[in-house]
Amino acid sequence: MTDERTSATLPHMCGIVGYVGNRPAVSIVLDGLRRLEYRGYDSAGIAVVDGDVVLTEKRAGKLANLEKALTERAADGIATGCTAIGHTRWATHGGPTDRNAHPHLSGDGRVAVIHNGIIENFARLRAELEAGGAEFRSDTDTECAAHLLAAEMRALRESGCADGPQLLAEGMRRTVRRLEGAFTLLAVDVLVPDAVVGARRNSPLVVGRGAGENYLASDVSAFIEHTREAVELGQDQVVLITPAGIEISDFQGNPATGKDFHIDWDASAAEKGGYDYFMLKEIAEQPQAIADTLLGRLSERGDIVLDEVRLTDQDLRDVDKVFIIACGTAYHSGMVAKYAIEHWVRIPCEVELASEFRYRDPVLDRSTLVIAISQSGETMDTLMALRHAKEQKARVLAICNTNGSTIPRESDAVLYTHGGPEIAVASTKAFLTQLVACYLIGLHLAQIRGVMYADEVASVVSRLQTIPDQLRDLLAGMEDVRALARDLKTASTVLFIGRHVGFPVALEGALKLKELAYMHAEGFAAGELKHGPIALIDQGTPVVCVVPSPAGRGVLRDKVVSNIQEVRARGARTIVIAEEGDDAVAPYADHLILVPRTPTLLAPLMTTVPLQILACEIAAARGHDVDQPRNLAKSVTVE
Ligand code: G6P
Repeated sequence: MTDERTSATLPHMCGIVGYVGNRPAVSIVLDGLRRLEYRGYDSAGIAVVDGDVVLTEKRAGKLANLEKALTERAADGIATGCTAIGHTRWATHGGPTDRNAHPHLSGDGRVAVIHNGIIENFARLRAELEAGGAEFRSDTDTECAAHLLAAEMRALRESGCADGPQLLAEGMRRTVRRLEGAFTLLAVDVLVPDAVVGARRNSPLVVGRGAGENYLASDVSAFIEHTREAVELGQDQVVLITPAGIEISDFQGNPATGKDFHIDWDASAAEKGGYDYFMLKEIAEQPQAIADTLLGRLSERGDIVLDEVRLTDQDLRDVDKVFIIACGTAYHSGMVAKYAIEHWVRIPCEVELASEFRYRDPVLDRSTLVIAISQSGETMDTLMALRHAKEQKARVLAICNTNGSTIPRESDAVLYTHGGPEIAVASTKAFLTQLVACYLIGLHLAQIRGVMYADEVASVVSRLQTIPDQLRDLLAGMEDVRALARDLKTASTVLFIGRHVGFPVALEGALKLKELAYMHAEGFAAGELKHGPIALIDQGTPVVCVVPSPAGRGVLRDKVVSNIQEVRARGARTIVIAEEGDDAVAPYADHLILVPRTPTLLAPLMTTVPLQILACEIAAARGHDVDQPRNLAKSVTVE
């Protein structure tokens, strides 16, 4: 996999398609959206420039809902325009409704915009636009861009600039210069009928080069059946497509170039961004998923911002106990959260498997905060535990990746992880973004309760912000782990040990291996080894050891090193995951995997990743279907 492949094709939340040419655009854009369907989405919409109007149609739910609405409107002539943009949405700001579906129109209805990403300063922009008379028709951050672009276009026209594609490009440049965050934007303007303009910052956008027609998309699979000649845009670029050509500039208007490439993948490889499995693609998306989950979380005053909070600060100050409920991988993120919450917030925090929670009569009341963690937001065990908590009058806060799903709907507050759709059954990027969400909630509670100062919170957040780059470095050096995986494919059992936050990482590593490779794998608290599991160690038994940072609690790290020596003395083959610079562990490691340095509590964001790759590659080497392991489902809606 090459860099240009990954950066050109790694999607986040939404699917985007734009077309300009000489053929009716609706069916081309709809086909493109269908090709992006594999990502999963919650709503879809389209805008077509037709004569002197922009016609839009948008619907919550499946693409079929949009198609049906379009068929009913065929008489409007919506199918005849040759310029269109289309969108499949994975909601971030505003629930998945018809009204929040893209495209969004300017107040005068002339400009239509679709967007992928998060506009971080949208609240400020919205206030400014509303003060200037703009009326918002949705809860999205995107709508700001539509109003801003229309205002810029108006100002340019009033200053005497001639209408035409260049005006649209300039309007977009002026708009994006006002935006903070990550975004891909596409827009059309009814007064510039033969053009689509796009812009990209930290979010994917590729151009498809046709003959007398051109395409824009978040991912090449949207136009692969029409052209295989593509251009990858660089960061902070604006692209204008017309039937005659493609023009690229930077946000200031200086001419720029993209990178031409030929697509030689088939449609199914294109969906996976050139990776063999969705799981590998999702592992590679983790740096971006974390960056997106952090976007917009710090207010200008330095406070942590949650998404939907139907709790007062006083409610959160009154909390005297936290319960975390979750299943599977999400449960492991909750186990990490316990360490962070107790350390930072200084209130008791228990983690409970959701399926066990209500059957053991947990003691809950109005001052208990229950945190329900779920990627899908639909896991029945977690939902039933949540309902039980609510019956006992506890407050419930959800951490969820799926906007508008049942668990966040039934909770008192929500923090959405912005991981984007996760297709592989085994959870990867959802796990890391859940960890980030847990850290943010811990910091939020600590700040509200006055046990951490704003600058202390800001310092942890700034360490979190460096994680995406550190993860990229880590992911770039995983060749040895892949080789090791091929070597381990015949092992009959693999054990995982860790202490402190390394313990849930050991459990997660073992779970991944069970799920994907169908191998016997177990995770243990390293201190428990001597109380039983050490009897499992035989000559050559692989034991993965997660070593805490020596910069944290030195004693903890030294104890794990002793555990490694103990298992090694009994014949184990040790696979040691340690922090860069911790050279002292090398003599005890048959295989040493080094990860970038992080503060102790954040270490699972690094140490989990080699274990994901290990499990994925062992499963592939054993010939299993990595994305859809036997007997498992992505979302389990039965108890
Ligand atoms: C299923 C999936 C797991 C997931 C668990 C919880 O068992 O196979 O990967 O961790 O459900 O799912 P949730 O959507 O609630 O996070």
